[in-house]
Amino acid sequence: MVLSAATHEKIRAEIAHYPNARGALLYALHAARDEAGALGKEVFAEVGEHFGMRAGEVAEVASFYSLYNQPKAAAVVQVCTGLPCCLNGARGLVREAEKRLGTKSGTATADGRFAIVEVECLGSCGTAPVLQVNRNLYVERATPDYLASMLTSPEAAIGAHPPTPLISQIAEGVEGYLLPPNGQRRLTVEEYKQSGGYQAVVKAGTMEPKDIAATVKDAGLRGRGGAGFATGLKWTFMPPPDGGPRYLAVNADESEPGTFKDRQIMERNPHLPIEGIMIAAMAIQANAAFIYIRGEYVEAYRIMRAAIGEAYAAGILGENALGFNRRFDIHIQPGAGAYICGEESGMLESMEGKKGQPRKRPPFPAVRGLWQRPTTVENIETCSHAPVIIMRGADWYKSIGMPNSSGNTLFGVSGHVKRPGIYEMPLGVKLRDLIYKYGGGLEDGRTVKAVIPGGLSMPVLRGDQIDVAVDHESLKTVGSLLGTAGAIVMDDRSCMVRAALVIARFFEHESCGQCTQCREGTGWTYRTLKRIEAGEGRPQDLDTLADTFNFMDGKCICALADGASWASRAFLKQFRADYEAHIEAKKCPFPESFDV
Ligand SMILES: Cc1cc2nc3c(=O)[nH]c(=O)nc-3n(C[C@H](O)[C@H](O)[C@H](O)COP(=O)(O)O)c2cc1C
Ligand code: SF4
Ligand code: FES
Repeated sequence: MVLSAATHEKIRAEIAHYPNARGALLYALHAARDEAGALGKEVFAEVGEHFGMRAGEVAEVASFYSLYNQPKAAAVVQVCTGLPCCLNGARGLVREAEKRLGTKSGTATADGRFAIVEVECLGSCGTAPVLQVNRNLYVERATPDYLASMLTSPEAAIGAHPPTPLISQIAEGVEGYLLPPNGQRRLTVEEYKQSGGYQAVVKAGTMEPKDIAATVKDAGLRGRGGAGFATGLKWTFMPPPDGGPRYLAVNADESEPGTFKDRQIMERNPHLPIEGIMIAAMAIQANAAFIYIRGEYVEAYRIMRAAIGEAYAAGILGENALGFNRRFDIHIQPGAGAYICGEESGMLESMEGKKGQPRKRPPFPAVRGLWQRPTTVENIETCSHAPVIIMRGADWYKSIGMPNSSGNTLFGVSGHVKRPGIYEMPLGVKLRDLIYKYGGGLEDGRTVKAVIPGGLSMPVLRGDQIDVAVDHESLKTVGSLLGTAGAIVMDDRSCMVRAALVIARFFEHESCGQCTQCREGTGWTYRTLKRIEAGEGRPQDLDTLADTFNFMDGKCICALADGASWASRAFLKQFRADYEAHIEAKKCPFPESFDV
């Protein structure tokens, strides 16, 4: 036996939360890896016994997830090399680690004390560059000197927990309802109740489910997970109850570079999403909700789990749940390092303990979702808007923000700004204000060359396009999209081929590989950009790239391929001169650019 009795007991206790034991598989693999250090045949066999799976079947699932496939070492130092981290010196951190440890990125030292791994976005782009050692708390705003101090021993690396900077705030003059008031770091259940919390769920309990959905629809709430779908309308897609279970699947996977808002809600105001989830579940008449939190969010997972525990202890959840007059449960599942598990059907697969490969639709989740039962998938921020809508009404909510983009949102700003962070404001703030007034502007003397307004997959804008409002309709007029409202800013020294290269690397890494166009297209894009950036590009490469994007767009099972092609196509269209300059000069013509 490799795993202790205590670990087996933890796995058994977790299984009890699911209608199908395999819902606990990812949790079990984390528990096993935390104890054994790495996953191997014996561990897979022991874990598999809980789920009636052979070792090979467990290994196949585990092979899909980055967090289960890292080199074995006492301290695995993961350096985020997503775009906002690269813009803030991530490559320098990788080099420092390689130099100090005498080993290459992606490998472990011969004595097994350390390994260095480059990882995609850790969801904390506002505190870039970011490191994580094993499954410990993040090391944010990391510097080469600090990293050097961590690399003196595995114990020093594992124990390195500089305080988490507070980077989210309600913008001045704004009536906030997502983040805690008065800059409080975290609201307890009592504080949440004192500020009016859990009254909305009681009120919703007096309403018909269809009226809850209608109120949210009238309010104009649109999903905050990236696609901006009308939330109340989505709730009406659920079929009438048939006596069997129905689920709400809550998406807190947050893995798109530039997007780091859900973590702020979960860590600072954990009872707000719980109340919002309860209201959404009432509207769709769900029996239970499952929250899928990305595996790297160790702290958010712990805080949310504790808050759910508090809610059970206070009689808010469980038998006779507040407002429900019946049983209602919420449980949390950890992800394991795969961006595609944020895509709704990839997430459902992962929640069922499988590889997170998106499903072909139809059938849509409302018809056949989690464990083949009717399911609504909702982003965790989206749910967090429901309490204020129920308490203050659709008209009040609609009066905030812009037509077709109502309510506050958590705007992110990262990259080359002095005050990166999350700002709660009504939709429709000017992009220029987000960068200069809230984000503090750029380093003195620098100007904006490019901004991605809403998470990595949204089309990039040029620096002369920032006098646009950040909302669904306005961004369309300049050829972009709101996405997750997380802006990534690049200054005038930045090489746009490098930026496009980092983005292509992300999509190539995260494609699940099911669709030929996505698998081959993301790989081809990455390799071509790498060549162009290295000065080995040919003029015809640019036409081939454009063809590749057309080959990917709208032809695949899920929207990852679309996002990858939109992002890359926009860089080529907006900054073609940068590409041509590389090909002509046979090298990168931006010596002061950030490194990748
Ligand atoms: C590749 C890909 C990744 C996604 N990642 C996330 C994510 O991390 N979090 C999220 O809420 N939605 C994500 N989405 C959107 C979800 O598919 C889905 O639209 C969303 O969770 C629905 O919730 P909403 O309507 O409340 O936004 C992603 C979509 C795609 C195509
Ligand atoms: S589009 Fe890409 S990520 Fe989505 S299912 Fe196809 S291969 Fe997988
Ligand atoms: S945390 Fe590094 S790019 Fe997001």
